[in-house]
Amino acid sequence: MLRCPISCKAPNFSLGKNRGPQSAKVARAQMDLSITQPDDWHLHLRDGELLEAVVPHSAIHFGRAIVMPNLKPPVTTTAAALAYRESILKVLPSNSDFTPLMTLYLTDNTHPDEIKLARKSGAVFAVKLYPAGATTNSQDGVTDLLGKCLPVLEEMVEQNMPLLVHGEVTDPEVDIFDREKVFIDTVLRPLVQKLPKLKVVMEHITTQDAVKFIESCDEGSIGATVTPQHLLLNRNAIFQGGLQPHNYCLPVLKREIHRQAIVAAVTSGNKRFFLGTDSAPHDRRKKECSCGCAGIYNAPVALSLYAKVFEEEGALDKLEAFTSFNGPDFYGLPRNTTKIKLSKSKWSVPAAYPFASGEVVPMFAGQTLEWYLSSAV
Ligand code: DOR
Ligand code: ZN
Repeated sequence: MLRCPISCKAPNFSLGKNRGPQSAKVARAQMDLSITQPDDWHLHLRDGELLEAVVPHSAIHFGRAIVMPNLKPPVTTTAAALAYRESILKVLPSNSDFTPLMTLYLTDNTHPDEIKLARKSGAVFAVKLYPAGATTNSQDGVTDLLGKCLPVLEEMVEQNMPLLVHGEVTDPEVDIFDREKVFIDTVLRPLVQKLPKLKVVMEHITTQDAVKFIESCDEGSIGATVTPQHLLLNRNAIFQGGLQPHNYCLPVLKREIHRQAIVAAVTSGNKRFFLGTDSAPHDRRKKECSCGCAGIYNAPVALSLYAKVFEEEGALDKLEAFTSFNGPDFYGLPRNTTKIKLSKSKWSVPAAYPFASGEVVPMFAGQTLEWYLSSAV
């Protein structure tokens, strides 16, 4: 008999008549999953009152998070990363053990010495590449990675500091749906060939091309984070019944074949893929306007949604590695030792989360989901 390694406590979960844990599509009245505390390897926490409003949602669900540096102004130095870390710690719920893992924003002018400082700080865990103009607050990003940043990248190899890439080219002639593929062909593959020892995470992958590329690379040197939206939605979701700004993120949602390839990759158990929500809150007014920002706020629903995807694929036994093992293993960090419990019971996603001067609309606002964080064990 197959046994589910994530200690499914539901009666008969692994004993179903014809269904083992590999085909857990049947809803049961109550089903619990106990899994090692997950981490979020790609998160936008913002600053100011938005930070205060959103940080509890990540802190409840995740042990650690890689915190993106695309603030205004961007976090380009270790000193700024340490200050940002302090401001996050200050607004954490009082009993929280949540640990923010800081990142630096790479620019054309980043000096290799900054990488040494970052490593020495013990608080900075990666450097983020935003191609200039690719997304929110990327205007100070890199214009020519190998042309302008080679000495920094070489220092990153020295310091074993991972490069996290927003994998899209920005040339206006390249169709927005092709930007990831063209990035792989023109930037990522040459980078990996030039610096095979550089640790790289391709963030929020959206295409079959990315899946194939990652699968072709050495395990341990290249990994990829995967968001709930790119597992559950295809590009129709942006236009369903009218323009849906809360389903707009970058890289933009792609065709169904790409979604299916990503689902197959993560539920296969391949260690190169790990959880990174890319939760990216914006005030409702900045989403619902004539030029809406890219970003989906998914921190409150992310774990529910990942569980849903794995359950629908009959792969709940692979969920824990994706949420809690593959990420720390890639980064060379210890796995968390505490557990959380996810229960299969219905809950309604709030329509919005208010904060002092606005509100944030979460992914799947107002809808009913099934998996719920019922406790930290
Ligand atoms: O949709 C996105 N939103 N993609 C990004 O790369 C940035 C993020 C944000 O910061 O809002
Ligand atoms: Zn992001």
